[in-house]
Formats: sequence, structure tokens, C-alpha cells
Amino acid sequence: MILVFGGNGQLGQELTRLAAARAIPMHALSRGEADIADGGAVAAALARWKPELLVNAAAYTKVDLAETNAEEARKGNEIGPAVLADACAAAGVPMVHVSTDYVFDGSKPDPYRETDPVRPISVYGRSKAAGEDAVRGKLKHHVILRTAWVYSEFGNNFLKTVLRLAETRDELRIVADQHGSPTSAREIAEAILYIAPALLREQKLSGTYHFTADGFTTWHGFASRVVEIAAPMTGRKPRVTPITTVDYPTAAKRPANSRLDCRLFVEKFGFSPRHWTEGVDATTRTLVAAAKRMPSHVA
Ligand SMILES: NC(=O)c1ccc[n+]([C@@H]2O[C@H](COP(=O)([O-])OP(=O)(O)OC[C@H]3O[C@@H](n4cnc5c(N)ncnc54)[C@H](OP(=O)(O)O)[C@@H]3O)[C@@H](O)[C@H]2O)c1
Repeated sequence: MILVFGGNGQLGQELTRLAAARAIPMHALSRGEADIADGGAVAAALARWKPELLVNAAAYTKVDLAETNAEEARKGNEIGPAVLADACAAAGVPMVHVSTDYVFDGSKPDPYRETDPVRPISVYGRSKAAGEDAVRGKLKHHVILRTAWVYSEFGNNFLKTVLRLAETRDELRIVADQHGSPTSAREIAEAILYIAPALLREQKLSGTYHFTADGFTTWHGFASRVVEIAAPMTGRKPRVTPITTVDYPTAAKRPANSRLDCRLFVEKFGFSPRHWTEGVDATTRTLVAAAKRMPSHVA
């Protein structure tokens, strides 16, 4: 069976849903059930569930708050993964650990490869890079999946924010000089479940891989697509105005180039991600339809 930490997050919930749909044995633990930075709780969970594979979907993901909450970020993104890696090494269990494009500074003109040196420019990015190092250093049998711009039907994310703002505003001003691939948590869950059997069989597949949806856009392109797909269903089509990063100051710096080259993952595992518009279109339609069924509930 597969044991998931961070079960209440976007990825955790998609993993749970997909595993149930495919009758894949899985148990997901929320933060309340097991804090990944708590060695006793993690050891007890492994002893109880005896997993064949552990997936770490837990993380401190509040990128701007991390700037003033470095200890919390370190706990979720560095200490937690280190505790999980230690526990996995002791139990002989491989782990899939999820990381981020924010380990890079974004100055490379091309998509990032796995071999490019990391140079995070935020507290969040530094904590995630330290978490990767901890996993690599403590556990041989692991896959680190770096992904980007994650959205889903669950939790808070950019796609849901755009839908909410589009209900009341006539103009959305969205950053158009940061580039990346909007990636659905469902797609990441599919990739993880797809690679799990191969990873269990072949320790030599261990390593760091980039995995996002196919194709690239900007936050402005992402928002425009959401508005375009939602409009026929909502009757709302606000203008989406491109702005620059300088026009939209945030506590944490973000890389201008978040594009990840995912060829290695496709070559090694034979799983090709769908184009980013497919997931964005499907999630937008699902959320708008759900909001229409419950008019008092905003996407
Ligand atoms: N979201 C993105 O845009 C994005 C982009 C690139 C990479 N990633 C990576 O993708 C992975 C999944 O992200 P996501 O979007 O699914 O995140 P998410 O929705 O924020 O979920 C993270 C979950 O981890 C839990 N958590 C935090 N600290 C924990 C701890 N110490 N022990 C146990 N659980 C803890 C959170 O619980 P609480 O809610 O109770 O805090 C939350 O349920 C993460 O590794 C993230 O860094 C995300």
C-alpha cells in the first residue's frame, strides 16, 4: 500500500481520489494525524501502515508568508522531509517527494533541466531546496518530483482566485512576465501512481525529475484561459490586462522563468503530461458547474 503525508492538500486529495477510483491501496494522513516534522508520529505511522511506498505531499506552501515565517517553512519543507527520509531509510521504504520550480532563480533563458544548479530567491525556495538535499542525503531509493504552478478543485490556488475575482470585477490585472506551466494536482497524482510500480521494482530510477503539464504560458495567459472557458457558463468576461512583476509587489521574489524541461521524466518513465490548457479547461468547467449548483458557494 501507499502511505501519503499531507493528505488534506491539493495533491494529497487528488492522490486519494485517484487511488480510490483505481482501487489502488492507499492511506492518506492529514497534518492533524501526522506532522511530518514529528519523528515519533512518522515512525508510528510507518509501523502501523507498513507501506511499500511513501509519498510526501505535505509542505509549507505559503510562499509570501514564509518570508516572515522561516521557522514554519523550515519545519514543513526541510525538517519534515528529513524526518520522512530517515524513517523510510530505517524501514526500507522508497519515497516520492514533491518539490518546486522555486528552487531556481529564473534567470536561465531556457527551460530548467534537472542538472541546473539551484539558486532559490525566497525563503520558501530555500527551504524546499534544503528539503531536497535532506532526502537525497538520507535515502537512496527516492524520486524527487519538481513541479510548478499547481491548481486543483481543492484548497486555494490561482485558478480559483481568478474565478472568484471574475464574478465581481470588470478588469483583472495579471502578471505577464513570469513564465511557467500551470499543472493540475490531478496530473501530478496520475504521474506518481503511474511511476510507483516501476520505482518499486527498480531502485536505479531514483533521482530528481521535472514534471509539469506540457507547454508554457504566463500568469496572464493562465488567467485569460480561465476567463475564456468560464465566460460561456457564467456570462462574465472581465478584461484581463497584462502587468509586470514590478506592478505587483509581493513579499517573496518569484522566478521570471519557472519553465521546467520534463524530457527526462518522459524518457525514463514513459508518461507524457497533457498540455496545460486541458487541465485548466476541465478544472474551470468543473468548478463553475459546482458553483452554479450551489449559488451561495463561490468557487
Ligand atoms: N501549490 C503550488 O503552486 C506548488 C508549486 C510547485 C510545487 N509545489 C509543491 O507541491 C507539493 C504539493 O503542494 P500542494 O499545492 O498540494 O500543497 P497544499 O495544498 O498547500 O497542501 C500541503 C499540505 O501539507 C500540509 N502540511 C504542512 N505542513 C505540514 C507538516 N509539518 N506535517 C504534515 N502536513 C503538513 C498542509 O496542512 P495545513 O493546511 O494544515 O497546513 C496541507 O494540507 C508541495 O511539495 C509543494 O511544495 C506546489
